[in-house]
Amino acid sequence: MFLGLDLGTSGLRALLVRVDGSVVGSAEATYPVSHPQSGWSEQNPADWVTACESVVAKLRAAHPQDWPDLSGIAVAGQMHGATLLDAKDDVLRPCILWNDTRSFAEATELDGQPGMREISGNIVFPGFTAPKLVWLARHEPKIFERVAKVLLPKDYLTFWLTGEHVSEMSDAAGTAWLDVEKRAWSPELLDASGMRMDQMPRLVEGSALAGRLRASLAQDWGISQPVAVAGGGGDNAVAACGVGALTEGDGFVSLGTSGVLLAAKDSFAPMPETAVHTFCHAIPETWYQMGVILAATDSLNWLARNLGQDAAALSKALGDRIDGPGKMRFLPYLSGERTPHNDSSIRGALLNLDIAHGPADLTQAVMEGVAFALRDNLEALKSTGTKLDRVLAIGGGAQSPYWVELCATLLDLPIDLPAKGEFGAAMGAARLAQCAATGAAPKDVMSAPEVARTVPPRPELQPAYEEAYQAFRATYPALKDLP
Ligand code: XUL
Repeated sequence: MFLGLDLGTSGLRALLVRVDGSVVGSAEATYPVSHPQSGWSEQNPADWVTACESVVAKLRAAHPQDWPDLSGIAVAGQMHGATLLDAKDDVLRPCILWNDTRSFAEATELDGQPGMREISGNIVFPGFTAPKLVWLARHEPKIFERVAKVLLPKDYLTFWLTGEHVSEMSDAAGTAWLDVEKRAWSPELLDASGMRMDQMPRLVEGSALAGRLRASLAQDWGISQPVAVAGGGGDNAVAACGVGALTEGDGFVSLGTSGVLLAAKDSFAPMPETAVHTFCHAIPETWYQMGVILAATDSLNWLARNLGQDAAALSKALGDRIDGPGKMRFLPYLSGERTPHNDSSIRGALLNLDIAHGPADLTQAVMEGVAFALRDNLEALKSTGTKLDRVLAIGGGAQSPYWVELCATLLDLPIDLPAKGEFGAAMGAARLAQCAATGAAPKDVMSAPEVARTVPPRPELQPAYEEAYQAFRATYPALKDLP
């Protein structure tokens, strides 16, 4: 029996899975994000532990027969956050999260340092971990002096489970301290942000053994055999494990709060100037690339909120099939943009508003704007030499047949829709736990989900959508230059 945990930004999801991959049960617990100042985003690590205790209690109560057979755990989760421990392993301050932009200036400074992009394979984004520590040294120097270990959010939960300071390659790749090709902490990168090697956790692969469940926890949880805890991984890498995207050509498009276009890679082939992320995968000798847009379903939710309507009802009103682009344009930069613009100060826009337009036109424009932005991501991935032949669609937005057909047409890729079931990061984590507990090879347990339906592009509509996409593309440079 394996437990996959997904430590998200708003809650923890737990999945109890059998050795044959079938799901025994799931449980969830939520926790708040605090925004003490504009652009700040923090969380209390103690809340993660409380959430973990709560999901375990729920699973134990619901599945008293299965639970005692637990033999492996892995944690996946939100990337980039800085959880700071002192020499006694006490948490020094709230965790600064991935979507906190206070260290914008420090990120730009680090990004300009020689060797930074070459070794880390990425632009130093304001959300990454290294600039957060540079900010801390400047603004909270007394706390900075006491930092004995920096743990990523999911590694703090692994620490609580095992008593070990340990991280793994996929999440470490988002710190700007890792040599992403060598899969090792980089002394040069640590030095560039005033950090030391002894402040870093030990590194393992995501599918490898990180430690064992602490004896006292195992006893409290009613488990008598040793429980392996795997390295785990960053949320997107582990979601890729959940859908079997492990080898070159495999990928997914995620229409979640943010939008992600991910491609697995057999080699390290970064091109940071495209603002594509190149990170280690959660399994050995594998990397992945992804483009990230910050507001996908968040854009539709924003519209729904402002129209006083429900997002699902808005998208339903468009019907299931596309029939050509609208005239209105939406730029989905509601929280700035990562790929391809790397611009945290740009904001969204609605253009070509007409007296005849109503809610359906607004909905169409928003969905098209998100699909155009994902096409920008595909172009960025292609410019690094990455090729995708088809993708699987995941995330809440994949429930909309209209949106999926729109993406298939704009990306010019068939999009597979998985049959109902579990294939997200919690499932990926359960599979990593299985590898660490049983020694199984990742490819043997990380199969692709059953495909319920494949949505092909609509070639007859592509010229019109292509023209609209080119108009969308031309808009960002003009918008950027507005005073
Ligand atoms: C990846 C990223 C997000 C976070 C939160 O670079 O910032 O995926 O991990 O989900």
